[in-house]
Amino acid sequence: MRLEELVDLLLRWFHVIAGILWIGNSMLFNWLDRNLVTPASKAHQPGFQGEIWMVHSGGFYQVEKRQLAPGQLPAQLHWFKWQNGLTWISGIFLLMVVYYLHAAAFMVDKQVADLTPATAVYVGIGVIVGSWFVYDVVWRTMGKLPRWPTLLTLLLLGGVTYLLAMTLSGRAAYMHVGVVIGTIMTGNVWTVILPSQRALVAATESGKEQDAALGLRAKQRSIHNNYLTFPLIFIMVSNHFPSTWGDNHNWIVLLVIMAASVGVRYGMNLRYSHPGWYAMVGVSLVLGLFTLVRLTTASTPPFDHSPTVSFATVDGILGNRCRTCHSARPTDELAKSTNGVVFDTPEQIASLKLRIRARAVELENMPLMNKTAMTAAERELLRRWIDQGGNPAATGE
Ligand code: HEC
Repeated sequence: MRLEELVDLLLRWFHVIAGILWIGNSMLFNWLDRNLVTPASKAHQPGFQGEIWMVHSGGFYQVEKRQLAPGQLPAQLHWFKWQNGLTWISGIFLLMVVYYLHAAAFMVDKQVADLTPATAVYVGIGVIVGSWFVYDVVWRTMGKLPRWPTLLTLLLLGGVTYLLAMTLSGRAAYMHVGVVIGTIMTGNVWTVILPSQRALVAATESGKEQDAALGLRAKQRSIHNNYLTFPLIFIMVSNHFPSTWGDNHNWIVLLVIMAASVGVRYGMNLRYSHPGWYAMVGVSLVLGLFTLVRLTTASTPPFDHSPTVSFATVDGILGNRCRTCHSARPTDELAKSTNGVVFDTPEQIASLKLRIRARAVELENMPLMNKTAMTAAERELLRRWIDQGGNPAATGE
């Protein structure tokens, strides 16, 4: 294994584990908050805000939420911040290892915009930093009346998605929207939520009231994080599905899926307060699934009746243009990142034909950077063979 691949693997592994710890915690606390009950016997206890009983890991757990009086602060208080901090930091390193070190191959798509690799990296970094700045200023200055900042935040996310899709390769664009979201969530934790919790602890120690504005702001930001989770995880997963980021209208696809997943989360939150919650979840699921189904059916080609293209022709083209990377015995060093997609045998070629069509015919982003100088006529031959059924026994021209 090459050093760079090893670093990629270890970072990814770490990133996913840290992410599970972070999002798992935050989902659990959300769920706890919504399921607290107040038994009559405790309703009048000062500072009591609710309790919950659970069974897990071979025992019963009783959790109580409460305000503390001065002097009641326990000796050991657990904080939750490194799960988030480490997820973000490992994510940024991954971004550098996977994208910024290979900007020419993975960030730039000449069909989208004719950028130099360095410019593409600057666009990426600029959008990440800029988005956090705008979002934070908007909520700090206008947060008291949430309607406007909510609208501005939606416009910001929409605009960022569109801008990235118009400048970077589809895959890099999606991942950068993900990093923008992850950075907003991390900024929320470290610059708003944690300071508010520190202020709460300090106020409890000194017996003063906590500044209500701080608490309100932290609540707002943690609601944002709650809604941003599902879109962020979709983006992480989507990287392995080229028909999402590779679609001609990839930014619309992403916005619809993000909206649908926020809708599902909203419905799940409503479950505790509104009987119509399942309608919200249902409509969102239908919207999201419809979009994904559209993508799958859009890539099923119609049958082509022009003269048959032989498999030998196709095999020859793949041999010249693709097997330098996509083979068990590749000759190009970029082959290490093909994720084991190889076109050596007729069976392998036939079973991957729709993906070959998507990348070499529709998107034209394979061969990578057209390193092997594939021609338009060859792409057309591939298309015809696939649209004629992609038969590995085909004879003809
Ligand atoms: C210079 C090396 C190189 C050449 C030549 C090349 N590829 Fe790729 N290919 C890659 C890399 C790297 C990846 C993984 C990254 C990606 O998906 O963009 C990949 C991924 C793919 C995938 C998998 C994506 C998926 O859907 O999961 C397909 C399909 C593909 N290439 C088709 C082709 C075809 C068809 C050709 C020839 C016409 C070709 N490639 C030539 C480097 C190459």
